[in-house]
Amino acid sequence: MLKNDLLLQALRGESLERPPVWMMRQAGRYLKEYQALRAKYDFFTRVKNPDLASDITIQPIDSLDMDAAILFSDILVIPQAMGLEVQMIENKGPFLPKTIQNKADIDALKINEAVKNLHFVFDAITVSKEKLNNRVPLIGFAGAPFTILCYMIEGKGSKNFDKAKAFCFTKRELAHELLQKITKLTILYLKEQIKSGVDVVQIFDSWSGLLSPADFNEFSETYLLQISNELSDLAPIILFPKGSWYALEKLSHSKASAIGIDWTISAKFARECTQNRITIQGNYDPCKLYQAPDLIKKDVHQLISDFGKDKLIVNLGHGILPDIPLKNAKAFVNAVKTYKETR
Ligand code: CP3
Repeated sequence: MLKNDLLLQALRGESLERPPVWMMRQAGRYLKEYQALRAKYDFFTRVKNPDLASDITIQPIDSLDMDAAILFSDILVIPQAMGLEVQMIENKGPFLPKTIQNKADIDALKINEAVKNLHFVFDAITVSKEKLNNRVPLIGFAGAPFTILCYMIEGKGSKNFDKAKAFCFTKRELAHELLQKITKLTILYLKEQIKSGVDVVQIFDSWSGLLSPADFNEFSETYLLQISNELSDLAPIILFPKGSWYALEKLSHSKASAIGIDWTISAKFARECTQNRITIQGNYDPCKLYQAPDLIKKDVHQLISDFGKDKLIVNLGHGILPDIPLKNAKAFVNAVKTYKETR
């Protein structure tokens, strides 16, 4: 039994004294313990060695005591397992030397073998669960099919992912073939993560906000719904379609347990669109963690009163930045823990 299951309670929509808190990218560079391992091992060594990956997963729990751990891994292990080379270039980000361009490239992508190639993730989950020793739930994750397509076509990070969007609009059929293939693997992958012990899964659609509402329906939502329909009986799901404010109403009727939102969406708008049908996760601007701790505390208490303490998971609106002082990250977590409703 979990000693702290606030996250699971919030995902079930139960009324709580205070909401749970965790931070996207909480296992990462703002922690000196992470930097120490980063100096010794390259990125995919850290990801693929279950002992290292699980140590990194636990680091933020040991030093900041959030209400959930998230597995240290990356969304790009999916294209890698399907057969594409993925490099992580120091201070620049991901690079895929060979991108997807045509039908032959899509046909060459593996699915069944890919699940086997991902066994290091399932091992890292098993070891992380042991090391967590039931302190808090463990969140597993995958990239949303549209976001994975973005990297597979573009080959690297991009401001607008023009090439990836152009592929969707000019080679519509091929784009759907690719999205469907990624979706199929993602479902198998997440089912295996759940079997290995994750308590919750989050789907990161980091680039869905680049799409118009109609294009989101076609290229992203279709596949997000397939994934939630397949998994919702197995574990609670958090969908994070970053920037897609227009998707809130429709996704609030989906089988997901929560929707993640970024800081461009107000509490009032989010609650109006979702009518308390679903838990909301978010949405503090990660840049505001540069402010002094007392200001962070004030903001977090305001955020909780704006959303209401129930059906809320306090988080950032995107990942924590690498140079945030530890005391500021602590102020964020502690502000949630000291929240008391004042009536
Ligand atoms: O949240 C966590 O603490 C768990 C670990 C996690 C990582 N990546 C580790 C990581 C998670 C959940 C991800 C997801 C991920 N990876 C996303 C979706 C979320 C988002 O941020 O939009 C995306 C788009 C990626 C792809 C990716 N990985 C990029 C663009 C980069 C480089 C940019 C950057 O932030 O450095 C990575 C590298 C990466 N993934 C790092 C970490 C800790 C930094 C690399 C390092 O420490 O050397």
